[in-house]
Amino acid sequence: MEKEDHIQQLINTAKAMVADHKGLVAIDESVATLNKRFEGSGIEQTEENRRAYREVLITTPGIGEYINGAILFDETVYQKTASGTPFLEVMNKAGIIPGIKLDEGTEDLAGFPGEKVTKGLDDLAERLTGYAKLGLKFAKWRAVILIDGLTLPSDACLVSNAHALARYAAACQRAGIVPIVEPEVIMDGDHNIERCAEVTEKALRILFEQLYLLKVELGGLILKPNMILPGAGSAQKVDADRVAALTVQTLRNAVPATVSGVAFLSGGQDALAATKNLNAINLTYKAELPWPVTYSFSRALHQPALELWKGKAENVKAAQESFLELAKANRLARKGEFK
Ligand code: 13P
Repeated sequence: MEKEDHIQQLINTAKAMVADHKGLVAIDESVATLNKRFEGSGIEQTEENRRAYREVLITTPGIGEYINGAILFDETVYQKTASGTPFLEVMNKAGIIPGIKLDEGTEDLAGFPGEKVTKGLDDLAERLTGYAKLGLKFAKWRAVILIDGLTLPSDACLVSNAHALARYAAACQRAGIVPIVEPEVIMDGDHNIERCAEVTEKALRILFEQLYLLKVELGGLILKPNMILPGAGSAQKVDADRVAALTVQTLRNAVPATVSGVAFLSGGQDALAATKNLNAINLTYKAELPWPVTYSFSRALHQPALELWKGKAENVKAAQESFLELAKANRLARKGEFK
Protein backbone atom coordinates (compact mmCIF):
# COMPACT_ATOMS: atom_id res chain seq x y z
CA MET A 1 0.00 0.00 0.00
CA GLU A 2 2.85 2.33 0.83
CA LYS A 3 4.02 2.40 -2.76
CA GLU A 4 0.54 3.17 -4.02
CA ASP A 5 0.18 6.07 -1.58
CA HIS A 6 3.51 7.42 -2.76
CA ILE A 7 2.40 7.28 -6.39
CA GLN A 8 -1.00 8.77 -5.61
CA GLN A 9 0.75 11.71 -3.95
CA LEU A 10 2.85 12.31 -7.05
CA ILE A 11 -0.28 12.19 -9.21
CA ASN A 12 -2.07 14.63 -6.89
CA THR A 13 0.83 17.10 -7.07
CA ALA A 14 1.08 16.79 -10.86
CA LYS A 15 -2.63 17.43 -11.23
CA ALA A 16 -2.46 20.41 -8.84
CA MET A 17 0.30 21.92 -11.03
CA VAL A 18 -2.08 22.14 -14.00
CA ALA A 19 -5.41 22.57 -12.15
CA ASP A 20 -8.02 25.32 -12.40
CA HIS A 21 -7.03 26.45 -15.88
CA LYS A 22 -3.83 27.92 -14.50
CA GLY A 23 -0.24 27.33 -15.53
CA LEU A 24 3.34 27.53 -14.31
CA VAL A 25 5.99 30.20 -14.50
CA ALA A 26 9.68 29.47 -15.05
CA ILE A 27 11.85 31.85 -13.02
CA ASP A 28 14.70 29.35 -12.98
CA GLU A 29 17.13 31.04 -15.32
CA SER A 30 20.65 30.07 -14.30
CA VAL A 31 22.95 32.82 -13.00
CA ALA A 32 24.58 33.04 -16.45
CA THR A 33 21.27 33.21 -18.33
CA LEU A 34 19.68 35.80 -16.06
CA ASN A 35 22.85 37.87 -16.11
CA LYS A 36 22.73 37.81 -19.90
CA ARG A 37 19.14 39.06 -19.83
CA PHE A 38 20.13 41.74 -17.31
CA GLU A 39 22.95 42.82 -19.60
CA GLY A 40 20.49 43.14 -22.49
CA SER A 41 18.31 45.46 -20.36
CA GLY A 42 21.16 47.47 -18.83
CA ILE A 43 20.69 45.98 -15.34
CA GLU A 44 23.73 45.40 -13.14
CA GLN A 45 24.57 41.68 -12.89
CA THR A 46 24.59 41.11 -9.13
CA GLU A 47 23.12 38.51 -6.81
CA GLU A 48 21.11 41.28 -5.13
CA ASN A 49 19.53 42.26 -8.46
CA ARG A 50 18.69 38.64 -9.25
CA ARG A 51 17.07 38.35 -5.80
CA ALA A 52 15.21 41.64 -6.24
CA TYR A 53 13.92 40.59 -9.67
CA ARG A 54 12.59 37.29 -8.33
CA GLU A 55 10.96 39.23 -5.49
CA VAL A 56 9.19 41.46 -8.02
CA LEU A 57 7.73 38.38 -9.69
CA ILE A 58 6.68 36.27 -6.72
CA THR A 59 5.19 39.19 -4.77
CA THR A 60 3.05 40.36 -7.69
CA PRO A 61 -0.35 40.95 -6.06
CA GLY A 62 -2.93 38.42 -7.29
CA ILE A 63 -0.47 36.28 -9.30
CA GLY A 64 -1.71 33.13 -7.54
CA GLU A 65 -4.95 33.51 -9.52
CA TYR A 66 -3.06 32.60 -12.69
CA ILE A 67 -0.05 30.58 -11.62
CA ASN A 68 -0.12 27.21 -9.83
CA GLY A 69 3.62 26.85 -9.46
CA ALA A 70 6.97 28.51 -10.07
CA ILE A 71 10.21 26.82 -11.08
CA LEU A 72 13.12 28.25 -9.11
CA PHE A 73 16.88 28.26 -9.56
CA ASP A 74 18.96 27.04 -6.60
CA GLU A 75 20.02 30.48 -5.31
CA THR A 76 16.37 31.63 -5.23
CA VAL A 77 15.31 28.78 -2.94
CA TYR A 78 17.24 30.31 -0.04
CA GLN A 79 16.53 33.98 -0.73
CA LYS A 80 14.19 36.30 1.17
CA THR A 81 12.22 39.42 0.39
CA ALA A 82 13.81 42.77 1.28
CA SER A 83 11.71 42.72 4.45
CA GLY A 84 13.06 39.30 5.44
CA THR A 85 10.34 36.78 4.51
CA PRO A 86 11.72 33.62 2.88
CA PHE A 87 10.61 33.31 -0.75
CA LEU A 88 9.27 29.81 -0.08
CA GLU A 89 6.98 31.24 2.59
CA VAL A 90 5.73 33.99 0.27
CA MET A 91 4.97 31.40 -2.39
CA ASN A 92 3.19 29.03 -0.05
CA LYS A 93 1.00 31.89 1.19
CA ALA A 94 0.14 32.86 -2.39
CA GLY A 95 -0.78 29.26 -3.24
CA ILE A 96 2.20 28.89 -5.60
CA ILE A 97 3.79 25.44 -5.50
CA PRO A 98 7.59 25.73 -5.45
CA GLY A 99 9.69 23.71 -7.90
CA ILE A 100 13.40 23.51 -8.68
CA LYS A 101 15.53 23.37 -11.82
CA LEU A 102 17.73 20.29 -11.37
CA ASP A 103 19.69 20.08 -14.58
CA GLU A 104 23.12 21.66 -14.63
CA GLY A 105 23.14 22.89 -18.20
CA THR A 106 24.63 21.11 -21.18
CA GLU A 107 27.94 19.81 -22.42
CA ASP A 108 29.09 18.71 -25.87
CA LEU A 109 27.92 15.26 -26.90
CA ALA A 110 31.21 13.50 -27.66
CA GLY A 111 31.45 12.34 -31.26
CA PHE A 112 28.52 14.50 -32.44
CA PRO A 113 29.83 17.96 -33.27
CA GLY A 114 27.48 20.77 -32.34
CA GLU A 115 25.14 18.58 -30.30
CA LYS A 116 24.52 18.75 -26.56
CA VAL A 117 23.63 16.48 -23.69
CA THR A 118 22.33 17.69 -20.33
CA LYS A 119 24.46 17.36 -17.17
CA GLY A 120 23.48 16.86 -13.54
CA LEU A 121 22.80 13.17 -12.90
CA ASP A 122 25.81 12.46 -10.68
CA ASP A 123 24.66 13.77 -7.31
CA LEU A 124 20.97 13.93 -8.14
CA ALA A 125 19.69 11.66 -5.37
CA GLU A 126 21.35 13.76 -2.63
CA ARG A 127 20.19 17.03 -4.15
CA LEU A 128 16.64 15.67 -4.39
CA THR A 129 16.62 14.63 -0.74
CA GLY A 130 17.73 18.13 0.28
CA TYR A 131 15.14 19.92 -1.85
CA ALA A 132 12.34 17.60 -0.72
CA LYS A 133 13.21 18.46 2.90
CA LEU A 134 12.97 22.17 2.07
CA GLY A 135 9.42 21.62 0.74
CA LEU A 136 10.00 21.71 -3.01
CA LYS A 137 7.32 19.63 -4.72
CA PHE A 138 8.42 19.40 -8.33
CA ALA A 139 11.49 19.73 -10.50
CA LYS A 140 12.57 20.51 -14.05
CA TRP A 141 15.22 19.10 -16.39
CA ARG A 142 15.77 20.55 -19.84
CA ALA A 143 17.29 18.76 -22.82
CA VAL A 144 18.52 20.90 -25.68
CA ILE A 145 17.89 19.43 -29.12
CA LEU A 146 19.41 21.34 -32.00
CA ILE A 147 17.72 20.92 -35.36
CA ASP A 148 18.44 21.63 -39.00
CA GLY A 149 16.70 20.81 -42.24
CA LEU A 150 18.40 17.47 -42.82
CA THR A 151 20.81 15.86 -40.37
CA LEU A 152 20.36 17.32 -36.89
CA PRO A 153 19.46 15.99 -34.40
CA SER A 154 21.30 12.69 -34.50
CA ASP A 155 19.62 9.61 -33.02
CA ALA A 156 22.50 9.58 -30.51
CA CYS A 157 21.49 13.04 -29.28
CA LEU A 158 17.82 12.06 -28.97
CA VAL A 159 18.54 8.80 -27.15
CA SER A 160 21.22 10.27 -24.82
CA ASN A 161 19.00 13.14 -23.78
CA ALA A 162 15.87 11.00 -23.42
CA HIS A 163 17.78 8.54 -21.26
CA ALA A 164 19.05 11.33 -18.99
CA LEU A 165 15.53 12.77 -18.73
CA ALA A 166 14.16 9.35 -17.79
CA ARG A 167 16.85 8.76 -15.16
CA TYR A 168 16.17 12.19 -13.71
CA ALA A 169 12.39 11.56 -13.73
CA ALA A 170 12.77 8.19 -11.98
CA ALA A 171 15.04 9.75 -9.32
CA CYS A 172 12.54 12.58 -8.73
CA GLN A 173 9.63 10.22 -8.26
CA ARG A 174 11.65 8.14 -5.84
CA ALA A 175 12.16 11.29 -3.74
CA GLY A 176 8.45 12.20 -3.90
CA ILE A 177 9.07 15.07 -6.33
CA VAL A 178 7.12 15.46 -9.58
CA PRO A 179 9.44 15.71 -12.60
CA ILE A 180 8.78 18.18 -15.39
CA VAL A 181 10.47 16.61 -18.41
CA GLU A 182 11.52 19.18 -20.99
CA PRO A 183 12.91 17.94 -24.31
CA GLU A 184 13.28 21.28 -26.08
CA VAL A 185 13.63 21.21 -29.84
CA ILE A 186 15.23 24.62 -30.24
CA MET A 187 13.69 27.30 -32.44
CA ASP A 188 17.03 28.48 -33.90
CA GLY A 189 17.63 27.53 -37.52
CA ASP A 190 16.00 27.89 -40.91
CA HIS A 191 14.08 24.59 -40.95
CA ASN A 192 10.38 24.62 -41.78
CA ILE A 193 7.48 23.80 -39.48
CA GLU A 194 7.02 20.31 -40.97
CA ARG A 195 10.62 19.47 -40.04
CA CYS A 196 10.01 20.71 -36.49
CA ALA A 197 6.96 18.41 -36.28
CA GLU A 198 8.94 15.42 -37.56
CA VAL A 199 11.85 15.94 -35.15
CA THR A 200 9.66 16.72 -32.14
CA GLU A 201 7.54 13.62 -32.69
CA LYS A 202 10.63 11.46 -32.88
CA ALA A 203 12.13 13.09 -29.77
CA LEU A 204 8.92 12.49 -27.83
CA ARG A 205 8.52 8.88 -28.97
CA ILE A 206 12.09 8.11 -27.88
CA LEU A 207 11.54 9.96 -24.61
CA PHE A 208 8.42 7.98 -23.69
CA GLU A 209 10.16 4.72 -24.55
CA GLN A 210 12.95 5.62 -22.10
CA LEU A 211 10.44 6.73 -19.45
CA TYR A 212 8.77 3.34 -19.85
CA LEU A 213 12.07 1.46 -19.53
CA LEU A 214 12.95 3.39 -16.37
CA LYS A 215 9.49 2.62 -14.89
CA VAL A 216 8.46 6.25 -14.58
CA GLU A 217 4.83 6.74 -13.51
CA LEU A 218 3.34 8.88 -16.28
CA GLY A 219 0.53 10.21 -14.09
CA GLY A 220 3.20 11.64 -11.79
CA LEU A 221 4.95 13.78 -14.40
CA ILE A 222 4.38 16.90 -16.48
CA LEU A 223 5.70 17.16 -20.04
CA LYS A 224 7.16 20.51 -21.06
CA PRO A 225 7.51 20.46 -24.85
CA ASN A 226 8.12 23.08 -27.49
CA MET A 227 5.28 24.14 -29.73
CA ILE A 228 5.65 23.14 -33.38
CA LEU A 229 7.04 26.18 -35.17
CA PRO A 230 9.19 27.05 -38.19
CA GLY A 231 12.81 27.90 -37.32
CA ALA A 232 13.42 31.51 -36.26
CA GLY A 233 15.54 31.98 -39.40
CA SER A 234 13.04 30.42 -41.79
CA ALA A 235 11.07 32.59 -44.21
CA GLN A 236 8.03 30.33 -43.80
CA LYS A 237 4.95 32.18 -42.50
CA VAL A 238 2.41 30.19 -40.48
CA ASP A 239 -0.63 31.29 -38.51
CA ALA A 240 -1.72 30.14 -35.06
CA ASP A 241 -4.16 27.62 -36.58
CA ARG A 242 -1.34 25.85 -38.42
CA VAL A 243 0.85 25.85 -35.29
CA ALA A 244 -2.05 24.45 -33.27
CA ALA A 245 -2.89 21.74 -35.83
CA LEU A 246 0.67 20.43 -36.07
CA THR A 247 1.35 20.78 -32.34
CA VAL A 248 -1.75 18.79 -31.42
CA GLN A 249 -1.08 16.16 -34.08
CA THR A 250 2.49 15.72 -32.86
CA LEU A 251 1.55 15.45 -29.21
CA ARG A 252 -1.35 13.09 -29.87
CA ASN A 253 0.93 10.83 -31.90
CA ALA A 254 3.59 10.58 -29.23
CA VAL A 255 2.33 11.42 -25.72
CA PRO A 256 0.40 8.79 -23.74
CA ALA A 257 -2.99 9.87 -22.41
CA THR A 258 -2.00 9.04 -18.82
CA VAL A 259 0.46 11.96 -18.59
CA SER A 260 -1.05 14.44 -16.08
CA GLY A 261 -0.36 17.60 -18.03
CA VAL A 262 1.40 19.31 -20.90
CA ALA A 263 2.89 22.74 -20.10
CA PHE A 264 4.67 24.44 -22.98
CA LEU A 265 7.90 26.41 -22.94
CA SER A 266 7.77 29.60 -25.01
CA GLY A 267 11.17 29.06 -26.61
CA GLY A 268 11.88 32.62 -27.77
CA GLN A 269 8.49 33.39 -29.36
CA ASP A 270 7.26 36.84 -28.46
CA ALA A 271 4.72 36.92 -25.68
CA LEU A 272 1.67 37.55 -27.86
CA ALA A 273 2.53 34.83 -30.37
CA ALA A 274 2.97 32.24 -27.61
CA THR A 275 -0.39 33.20 -26.08
CA LYS A 276 -2.19 33.12 -29.44
CA ASN A 277 -0.75 29.71 -30.25
CA LEU A 278 -1.75 28.29 -26.86
CA ASN A 279 -5.21 29.75 -27.34
CA ALA A 280 -5.63 28.18 -30.78
CA ILE A 281 -4.62 24.78 -29.39
CA ASN A 282 -7.19 24.92 -26.59
CA LEU A 283 -9.93 26.61 -28.64
CA THR A 284 -9.94 24.26 -31.59
CA TYR A 285 -8.82 20.97 -30.10
CA LYS A 286 -10.19 20.96 -26.55
CA ALA A 287 -12.23 17.80 -27.16
CA GLU A 288 -9.24 15.92 -28.61
CA LEU A 289 -6.73 16.63 -25.86
CA PRO A 290 -6.44 13.86 -23.25
CA TRP A 291 -4.31 16.08 -20.98
CA PRO A 292 -4.66 19.66 -19.71
CA VAL A 293 -2.54 21.82 -22.04
CA THR A 294 -1.10 24.90 -20.38
CA TYR A 295 1.96 27.18 -20.05
CA SER A 296 5.24 26.99 -18.23
CA PHE A 297 6.77 30.05 -19.87
CA SER A 298 9.68 32.17 -18.81
CA ARG A 299 10.24 34.84 -21.45
CA ALA A 300 6.65 34.96 -22.73
CA LEU A 301 5.42 35.64 -19.18
CA HIS A 302 8.01 37.99 -17.76
CA GLN A 303 10.62 39.24 -20.24
CA PRO A 304 8.51 42.43 -20.75
CA ALA A 305 8.42 42.84 -16.93
CA LEU A 306 12.20 42.61 -16.79
CA GLU A 307 12.53 45.28 -19.45
CA LEU A 308 10.12 47.57 -17.58
CA TRP A 309 11.76 46.98 -14.19
CA LYS A 310 15.31 47.89 -15.26
CA GLY A 311 16.54 47.19 -11.70
CA LYS A 312 14.76 50.23 -10.24
CA ALA A 313 12.37 50.32 -7.28
CA GLU A 314 10.18 52.94 -8.93
CA ASN A 315 9.42 50.52 -11.79
CA VAL A 316 8.28 47.57 -9.64
CA LYS A 317 4.59 48.37 -10.02
CA ALA A 318 4.76 48.61 -13.83
CA ALA A 319 6.73 45.36 -14.02
CA GLN A 320 4.24 43.54 -11.80
CA GLU A 321 1.31 44.84 -13.84
CA SER A 322 2.92 43.52 -17.01
CA PHE A 323 3.58 40.09 -15.46
CA LEU A 324 0.02 39.91 -14.12
CA GLU A 325 -1.46 40.92 -17.47
CA LEU A 326 0.47 38.25 -19.37
CA ALA A 327 -0.41 35.62 -16.76
CA LYS A 328 -4.07 36.62 -17.11
CA ALA A 329 -3.90 36.42 -20.93
CA ASN A 330 -2.36 32.97 -20.77
CA ARG A 331 -4.95 31.71 -18.34
CA LEU A 332 -7.56 32.77 -20.90
CA ALA A 333 -5.55 31.06 -23.64
CA ARG A 334 -5.44 27.92 -21.53
CA LYS A 335 -9.24 27.95 -21.78
CA GLY A 336 -9.31 28.97 -25.45
CA GLU A 337 -10.87 32.30 -24.45
CA PHE A 338 -8.08 34.75 -25.30
CA LYS A 339 -9.19 37.49 -27.72
P1 13P B 1 11.00 30.02 -22.16
O1 13P B 1 9.51 30.05 -21.97
O2 13P B 1 11.63 31.37 -22.14
O3 13P B 1 11.40 29.19 -23.35
O4 13P B 1 11.62 29.29 -20.91
C1 13P B 1 11.05 28.12 -20.46
C2 13P B 1 12.03 27.32 -19.75
O5 13P B 1 11.83 26.92 -18.63
C3 13P B 1 13.30 26.98 -20.43
O6 13P B 1 13.89 25.91 -19.79
